Amino acid sequence: MSVGTVLITGGTGYIGSFTTLALLDHGYKVVIVDSLYNSSKVSLDRIELLCGKRPDFYQVDITDEAALDKVFAAHPNIDSVIHFAALKAVGESSEIPLEYYRVNVGGTITLLRCMSKYNVPNIVFSSSATVYGDASQHPGMIPIPEHCPIGPTNPYGRTKSTIELVITDHINAQRNNLKKAGKPYEHWNGALLRYFNPAGSHPSGIMGEDPLGVPFNLLPLLGQVATGQREKLLVFGDDYPSKDGTAIRDYIHVVDLAKGHLAALNHLREKNPGVRAWNLGSGRGSTVFEMINAFSKVVGRPLPYEVVERRAGDVLDLTANPSRANTELGWKTELTLEDACEDLWRWVSNNPQGYRQDPPKELVEAAKAAAKKSA
Ligand SMILES: NC(=O)c1ccc[n+]([C@@H]2O[C@H](COP(=O)([O-])OP(=O)(O)OC[C@H]3O[C@@H](n4cnc5c(N)ncnc54)[C@H](O)[C@@H]3O)[C@@H](O)[C@H]2O)c1
Repeated sequence: MSVGTVLITGGTGYIGSFTTLALLDHGYKVVIVDSLYNSSKVSLDRIELLCGKRPDFYQVDITDEAALDKVFAAHPNIDSVIHFAALKAVGESSEIPLEYYRVNVGGTITLLRCMSKYNVPNIVFSSSATVYGDASQHPGMIPIPEHCPIGPTNPYGRTKSTIELVITDHINAQRNNLKKAGKPYEHWNGALLRYFNPAGSHPSGIMGEDPLGVPFNLLPLLGQVATGQREKLLVFGDDYPSKDGTAIRDYIHVVDLAKGHLAALNHLREKNPGVRAWNLGSGRGSTVFEMINAFSKVVGRPLPYEVVERRAGDVLDLTANPSRANTELGWKTELTLEDACEDLWRWVSNNPQGYRQDPPKELVEAAKAAAKKSA
């Protein structure tokens, strides 16, 4: 029996597909809306291969209120939303900021309007550690706790911090209005999940990140260098005040991150906390050079790189203090950076064309056997 029905926006994308898998594995029914702007429907086949269940799917743009409305109308059992759909390229957000505000902020407002209309009270939102900006400017804020001042350094980050405010205002208003009317209100809740750096792939080697166009994150770029699709990695600055001069990030395995969404969703539904922010990170910071070394070790040879100028808007250190999520959500990372590197290499070396090719037969057979065993 289903424990609940969840609408997932951006559910065919990287983190969305892993979260869909985690939810299906734990008895939820999942309805996905995605415009396929940066993803492929093939991810739905891989989800089904891995867990034996398939989410419902609608190719819908979240800024299209009439189309989104129809999805809610067709699924009256939806009681929660996990909201991933967004534009996410930091550099591009400085070139076309209005498009970022239109899709990210405007799309969220459209979604919240539909949720109100159909009385869907819980939202788990994909925020980002970028909302903190340069936390090293504030004394005692590395590793970064949730009470660190918010101060994003680029338009993408500002769309995320703005959405956090919109969700907070909306959920608080829903609660206050119902309270004033003497009605139950505690079921309206929001989780603002500030992810650090998602990395890695499914250990089966048949599901992973497959961005359309140039990836912006370090590990997928390293994957392309390792498979020969890219000549070298560009390292943006080696004059940061870190141990080797490169910037520090907190890499979190995407399988752990997906479980974080499940934990947050269950917490909202069971504990009714109102709106609350949680960092999802490991608490361990790694420099760019450490990451290049870790991935080179898995690949078995040194990967070429070139140090270039710092990138505008980049910051020295984004390492999480994840203790709030550890204690309140009962969630912590279980997989390591080394696991993320190994899983990523299994994915890219076996599927250099991502979802535009069939995975090797032996990996599919192994995944099917594993799914049968756990069914
Ligand atoms: N990957 C990261 O490093 C990272 C870090 C922090 C936060 N986030 C956030 O997590 C979320 C998911 O990121 P991801 O890495 O899985 O990215 P992704 O691009 O793989 O997933 C986003 C999905 O949203 C879809 N989408 C985009 N615009 C849409 C629209 N208007 N209507 C419907 N669907 C639309 C895309 O097609 C894609 O499937 C995003 O909100 C992102 O900002 C990502």
